[in-house]
Amino acid sequence: MQHDFWHDKWKSNHIGFHQDQPHSLLIKYFSCLNLVKGATVFVPLCGKSHDIAWLLEQGYHVIGIDLSPIAIQDLIVDLGLTFEEHQVGTLIHYHHSQIDLFVGDFFALTSAQLDQVDAIYDRAALIALPEQMRKQYTQHLSKITDQAPQLLISLEYDQMLLAGPPFSVAEYELIQHYARDYDIDLLASSPENLKGKVIAYEHVWHLTKLSI
Ligand SMILES: C[S@@+](CC[C@H](N)C(=O)[O-])C[C@H]1O[C@@H](n2cnc3c(N)ncnc32)[C@H](O)[C@@H]1O
Repeated sequence: MQHDFWHDKWKSNHIGFHQDQPHSLLIKYFSCLNLVKGATVFVPLCGKSHDIAWLLEQGYHVIGIDLSPIAIQDLIVDLGLTFEEHQVGTLIHYHHSQIDLFVGDFFALTSAQLDQVDAIYDRAALIALPEQMRKQYTQHLSKITDQAPQLLISLEYDQMLLAGPPFSVAEYELIQHYARDYDIDLLASSPENLKGKVIAYEHVWHLTKLSI
């Protein structure tokens, strides 16, 4: 997916993926990660999701990144926090003691910029990307987070009936991307009518790092 595609979506406010409240599956399943208060949760391709405010309210430190300056500016306004702003390479970094937000390309983010990540929350990040980018995404994510455990929310449907995004990601594909590093557990699945056109299954996955 080209960057312009997403910049156009944000400029024209065509952001059907954005929900006006924290995701019910985040609230229901986040505790499976067993994090202590103060742990750092990385939210790749975060948009301006209300999930971030929910994670902050639970006492976690949050790191988010999105390509769109509009998304991150809206998020900053919603959060009502004051940030310090720095340019780091090609990224803009907004720092607050509880949350770090980056504007720019996820693939430009380094492990040094992230520092310690205790868990990853992926909602509509992997499935936002076309097939040829998903391998690159999962490899980069694993590398910069040292395979931190994940709560991952994905969709599965007949890709012949609808072009993404969001793209369909089946279990076999998750296994291809992640089984080398992670145990992969399906926590829940529920059907939804995607864009009024196709029945899609929303899956919640818990990924835990394989012990050596
Ligand atoms: C489907 S949206 C999901 C947003 C958010 N996770 C949510 O649940 O609302 C995908 C987001 O990924 C961002 N994005 C796409 N490609 C990106 C990239 N290479 N680096 C950073 N963000 C990217 C888009 O701007 C968009 O906000």
